[in-house]
Amino acid sequence: MSEMNFASDNTAGIAPDILRALAGANDGFALGYGNDERSRDVERLFAHVFERDVAVFLVTTGTAANAIALAHVSPPWGAVLCHREAHAITDECGAPEFFGGGLRLIGLPGEACKLAPQTLQNALGDELWGGPHHVSPSALSLTQATEAGTIYRLDEIAALAALAHARGLAVHMDGARFANALVRLAVTPAEMTWKSGIDVLSLGATKGGAMAAEAIVFFDPARAASMAERRKRGGDLVSKHRFLAAQFAAFFAEDYWLTLARHANSLADRLAARLAASGCKPVWPVEANIVFVIMSKDRVTKLKNAGASFYVRRSLSLPAGIEIGADESLLRLVTSFATSENEVDRFVELACR
Ligand SMILES: Cc1ncc(COP(=O)(O)O)c(C=O)c1O
Repeated sequence: MSEMNFASDNTAGIAPDILRALAGANDGFALGYGNDERSRDVERLFAHVFERDVAVFLVTTGTAANAIALAHVSPPWGAVLCHREAHAITDECGAPEFFGGGLRLIGLPGEACKLAPQTLQNALGDELWGGPHHVSPSALSLTQATEAGTIYRLDEIAALAALAHARGLAVHMDGARFANALVRLAVTPAEMTWKSGIDVLSLGATKGGAMAAEAIVFFDPARAASMAERRKRGGDLVSKHRFLAAQFAAFFAEDYWLTLARHANSLADRLAARLAASGCKPVWPVEANIVFVIMSKDRVTKLKNAGASFYVRRSLSLPAGIEIGADESLLRLVTSFATSENEVDRFVELACR
């Protein structure tokens, strides 16, 4: 592995406390499929974090969390509205549609990968909805933090959720980087979810430092009826379930998840500030742990040759006035709990020299 790892937050290993918790959970025997003590504690743990009774289903990937959650809140003839760059529509190989029996994801435009209330209102006002000929809007899915590394403010979530609820839609949040948004906004998990109108959350721990642990959280447990069967049919009821539970227990213990996310965000801030000071201003405000910059292809080659790892992205919908020249590329740089200041500084020095 190179020293400058900005390809994704999943290139990092397992955060030390979580690794210790996995080793700790390895002693002795425990019943499988969530019937062990650690797993039975999980709902209590989440209820404490979210300040209300919740129904929780642990799974192993963010794709499974999104796909199974969306399938649960949408009929096969439903339409799930999301941003057109949302991971669920662009990067999950049709899993939500597959698990949802053919439900349709509909991508809407929006600056910085965020949906604006007016856009949602216009989409809902479209006359082409409803049976028997057309799909009907059944859910709204918001990504927090977004694929552009931006975040929805609480009033923005609440405004979108209110519009969705007024039309009977369920509101889902893809929280693969939930903690990064949470610490930036300095709000509580309850405030960023059910208090703002979120009905179901895909809460990611993997990118935040776990080995593989994601949770589907229903804020109205009654809504989760038959979810256990849906997860099993989805092939994601883990038999050695205690290891999923142990990861979340360590993730939440003493606000470890927030400490890890703060580190990732602060390194993204450092990266953004130093790149900007050298004339490479990030394309979008850096609000989580993702930095997008445009660089010449020569510099990209130089960085790659020096061992830096990152992805060059096709252009997302860029802000007005920003264009990628023929000899330029759009870079996505992601920091993690394990990113070091040295990595950032070395990258900037190479990128800007
Ligand atoms: C916003 C978002 N949602 C969901 C996922 C899915 O996670 P996984 O790769 O674990 O399926 C990702 C992964 O990149 C993501 O960035």
